[in-house]
Amino acid sequence: MKIAIIGTGYVGLVSGADFANRGHQVTCVDINEARIEGLKQGVMPISEVGLPELVAAGVKAGMLEFSLDARAAIAEAEIVFCCVGTPLADDGRADCGMIYEVARTFGESITKPTVLVNKSTVPVGTAMKCEEIIKKELQNRKMLDSRPRVLALRGDPFFAVVSNPEFLSQGTAVRDTANPSRLIIGSDDAWAIAQMELVNASFITAGVPKIVMSRASAELAKCAANAFLATKISFINEIANLCELVGANVDDIAASMGLDKRIGPAFLNAGIGYGGGCIPKDTAALIATGHDVGYEFKILPAVQAVNESQRRILYTKLCEFMPERAGKRIAVWGLAFKPGTDDVRSAPSLQIVQNLLADGAEMIAYDPTAQKNAAGLLPQLKFAKTPLEAVQEADALLICTEWPEFAELSLEKIAEMMSNKLIIDGRGVYRNVERPNNVKYWTVGCG
Ligand code: UGA
Repeated sequence: MKIAIIGTGYVGLVSGADFANRGHQVTCVDINEARIEGLKQGVMPISEVGLPELVAAGVKAGMLEFSLDARAAIAEAEIVFCCVGTPLADDGRADCGMIYEVARTFGESITKPTVLVNKSTVPVGTAMKCEEIIKKELQNRKMLDSRPRVLALRGDPFFAVVSNPEFLSQGTAVRDTANPSRLIIGSDDAWAIAQMELVNASFITAGVPKIVMSRASAELAKCAANAFLATKISFINEIANLCELVGANVDDIAASMGLDKRIGPAFLNAGIGYGGGCIPKDTAALIATGHDVGYEFKILPAVQAVNESQRRILYTKLCEFMPERAGKRIAVWGLAFKPGTDDVRSAPSLQIVQNLLADGAEMIAYDPTAQKNAAGLLPQLKFAKTPLEAVQEADALLICTEWPEFAELSLEKIAEMMSNKLIIDGRGVYRNVERPNNVKYWTVGCG
């Protein structure tokens, strides 16, 4: 099929490259000139395992191209995926301005029956609003009349808006897109559902569970999943805090809970809380949606409150061990909000580093991918080329992201390089390994 993808972030770029490698003709569009120019030269705007290869294969096969011209791409396409951002506005609601702009351009540009698919995470009712915007544009073009669709002339620009939330995770975006856990088609329009089945035929044949539901249900299904993941994380973090007080180990509790099929092992890693561009935003947006229709969530504000205090825990612990931080050299391992990504949006590391810089500490960080993004936000932060260089002569080491390479380093070697052998481990990297006696070690959930 001919596909236009609007927005080349995690969802748009990875989905576009994946569709191209499944035999669809894809044009990925963005308003960011540098990004499109870079993509044409093979430069990826995000760091994801396997993405450069996937994009290169699509381009080489002549199935994937990049463009700044949304109108032309939409006019050519049979199906348009809206993958633009919905940042959190000051009032806790998702800002859908860019989604509505895509709907307007869609209404201005379609030349034949076309489906607009919302892959971005959006509040309930967004698809309906997009439909109204498109109708208005088509009326302006004198292209929408009251004929039932079955009687529309061949080639009439009729359309449908479908909600099709995406469940990929950063760091594993390519793998998740190729192996989705489910395919959600939010629509009650038989033609649009058939088009969605066609474009997703290879997933359906491979046995990916497909659920067709209303657009409102599809929109809510995404936010509900992310808010539930947030709940799981805050729950295990509270158990971790209790473990510390009663002399238990949270990993043992999580392992035991995870073996219960009704609970499952994922998202039971205790640490310094959740961050990133999605889970915090979607939890806040769900609370705001409830509020707008007169439903006040009781669980979710508590989940947020636990997360806020959990994000402060490393700083609080360091202050207990080190009451005077001015002039101290403190190493930070991990800046990204999780391993496998260079993204520092809502990363717990940022606040911790800011607090310590304000205390007058000398901060030196190591992260394999996120240093550039963090440098833009924290100009006073210094960087090391390796984790061991960061701990050289350090008075303390804080671990904020559980990059696998950290677990491979020997604690003896790390301790040998530090002036003061204090390790505050926010992700439990060394929770279950034997530690040298001269190391003062604290981690979440280990009494
Ligand atoms: C999340 C969801 O997991 C995806 O399913 C969803 O598609 C995506 O948002 C989205 O809405 O686009 P992502 O933001 O990439 O994916 O990150 P997660 O893997 O969910 O991690 C979020 C945060 O929770 C990270 O800071 C991570 O360190 C933390 N976390 C995760 C924990 O503290 N403990 C855990 O057990 C798991």
